[in-house]
Amino acid sequence: MTTARVLVDLGSRKYPILIGSDTMGGLGASLRENGLTQRDAFVITNPAVGAHYFDTVRQSLEDSGFRRVVRHDIPATEQGKNWEEFTKACAGMLESFPDAGAIPLVVLLGGGVVGDLGGFAAAVFRRGVPFVQIPTTLLAAVDSSVGGKVAVNFGGVKNIMGAFSQPRLVFCDLGVLRTLDAREVRSGTAEIIKYGAVCSESLFRQLEDGALERVLALEPGTLTDVVAQCCRLKADVVEKDELDKLGIRNVLNFGHTIGHGLELSAEYALTHGEAIAIGMVAATRMAVKLGMVGPEFENRLFSLIRRAGLPMSFSGTPGLYDAVIRAMQSDKKFRDGRNLFVLPTAIGAWAPRENVDWGLVGDCVRGVIS
Ligand SMILES: NC(=O)c1ccc[n+]([C@@H]2O[C@H](COP(=O)([O-])OP(=O)(O)OC[C@H]3O[C@@H](n4cnc5c(N)ncnc54)[C@H](O)[C@@H]3O)[C@@H](O)[C@H]2O)c1
Ligand SMILES: [Zn+2]
Repeated sequence: MTTARVLVDLGSRKYPILIGSDTMGGLGASLRENGLTQRDAFVITNPAVGAHYFDTVRQSLEDSGFRRVVRHDIPATEQGKNWEEFTKACAGMLESFPDAGAIPLVVLLGGGVVGDLGGFAAAVFRRGVPFVQIPTTLLAAVDSSVGGKVAVNFGGVKNIMGAFSQPRLVFCDLGVLRTLDAREVRSGTAEIIKYGAVCSESLFRQLEDGALERVLALEPGTLTDVVAQCCRLKADVVEKDELDKLGIRNVLNFGHTIGHGLELSAEYALTHGEAIAIGMVAATRMAVKLGMVGPEFENRLFSLIRRAGLPMSFSGTPGLYDAVIRAMQSDKKFRDGRNLFVLPTAIGAWAPRENVDWGLVGDCVRGVIS
């Protein structure tokens, strides 16, 4: 069986990402081997994921000596990634583990919503308790479970309340993707295409040469290889700019500026990955209009997005355009009306572009809304 191990080297906060297929039964043993000695576990999941995998997780933890395994469910959708659910998770931890001397290991079993909300709860409960990520979506495996950004949405702004807090370990069993909706698998490929487009020409070529279809078919060898490459690319960025202070981490936001605006404004009719695919289309057209990249990039990227079955535009309600612009203007990266876009300059390369003319931004947004 193909397995991979990627180390996120952040000095005293370093941690491994263990990638394999059908490995969940070995979770507890892996945690112990990697020095996680807690007696109890607080598992945050949602009803859909929990129904499939909680029993296996609990059994594996108990087999490795965890005495108490408490389950806490949050809603299964992005709308549930909110302040109220975050406080409920904190209340659940306090209720189950009121004693400061018995801190549990927080286990985040789910996609990006569980990982972001649960990671935030673990980051602030008792000023931070250890947590591990068990990503169960392709998107969480290649992106959200790695890097330590944890958050909830608040006041209509995505991820506005959050923290930086690194997991102790990421345990990625890609076998769980077999129960994931095909739409969610396609969504995950948006982030994979993003890595190739702005971080790695070789990954992009590999996707073009058929790895994309093998990922969509959940072929274990290709999946492990591609997920490991994406985790390595993300780890490289996070190692250089853990706290997102140097602008290096911005690369991960290719397609996300317009994408996030669309994701929120479309009232969750789009998945995160679908919104990001559309955001990459808009950002690429912007880069072409600004003369930063040629039409060949556009052709190759759009062709991969199409092959992944991802959307390139969205037909919404009449007020959608204004809502997207408003949502973008509340972006954390924008200051004093100056915007900041991550734009491609070649396959596998990018540059930041500040203060793009709002007229051009508007054209690019209009171009993906029908
Ligand atoms: N922290 C970061 O760095 C980062 C990076 C990228 C995205 N994100 C966040 O991630 C979130 C999106 O995450 P997501 O795409 O994983 O969506 P998600 O967590 O909403 O999961 C998608 C759906 O799939 C279901 N599901 C999950 N795993 C399953 C499985 N194995 N089998 C059956 N059903 C399963 C879930 O119940 C849910 O309904 C967004 O909130 C986004 O902001 C965070
Ligand atoms: Zn994303």
